Amino acid sequence: MSRRSHLARLRQQSPLILPSVLSCDFSDMRGEVERLEAAGVQALHLDVMDGNFVPNITYGMPIVAAFRKLTQLPLDVHLMIENPERYIRQFYEAGADIITVHEEATGIDTASVLQEIKDMGCGAGVTINPDIPVERVLPFVDTADLILIMSVNAGFGGQAFNPVALEKLEALRKVGPPELLLEVDGGVNLETVQACAEAGADLLVIGSAIFNQSDYGAAIDQLYRSAQVST
Ligand code: DX5
Ligand code: ZN
Repeated sequence: MSRRSHLARLRQQSPLILPSVLSCDFSDMRGEVERLEAAGVQALHLDVMDGNFVPNITYGMPIVAAFRKLTQLPLDVHLMIENPERYIRQFYEAGADIITVHEEATGIDTASVLQEIKDMGCGAGVTINPDIPVERVLPFVDTADLILIMSVNAGFGGQAFNPVALEKLEALRKVGPPELLLEVDGGVNLETVQACAEAGADLLVIGSAIFNQSDYGAAIDQLYRSAQVST
């Protein structure tokens, strides 16, 4: 299955919950992946932070490559790094299926970064932090495969949901083509997941509301039911 062929399947199955493995137990990655697969997840969200674009540092290509070895699930890689165009090929080689860059962080024309990601055979995503107006991503609705709306400032898990994301999702759902994947990331939990799905999010990235629970399957089922109610 080609990397880009995951995109249509994810869209068909939406809304979907993507665990943000930032909050997983890295001393037991294999066990964590097995538990998430048993819980029925359809893709993993991987948060790469550089200590420059965001104040936090997480992990880079070797950990993405390790997840690639542990699972066939699509890997949705969220690059919170300055000048991400420098590292696109390395994340492709590490096994990313979707690569998302911050519009605020690209050092060259964002459209050409997205094209480069597509040319390599990956899904191309673009994202913005809560304080950036949605107009900054509107030029990409027809060329990006995915637009990620941040509902917290990129950098840390466990922050409170910023409802500005809902207006942006609604605006994008109205103007974007049906195949455009809309994703929301940060502070999504039992209280906020329904509003995100209603606003048009296809992919709901969730960290603490899954990994703070002992039974991932039960947590994901409950979140999934809340997301479904609205559609
Ligand atoms: C934040 C990351 C998120 C984060 C989500 O910069 O992009 O993916 O891990 O975690 P929660 O669900 O805890 O907000
Ligand atoms: Zn993320």
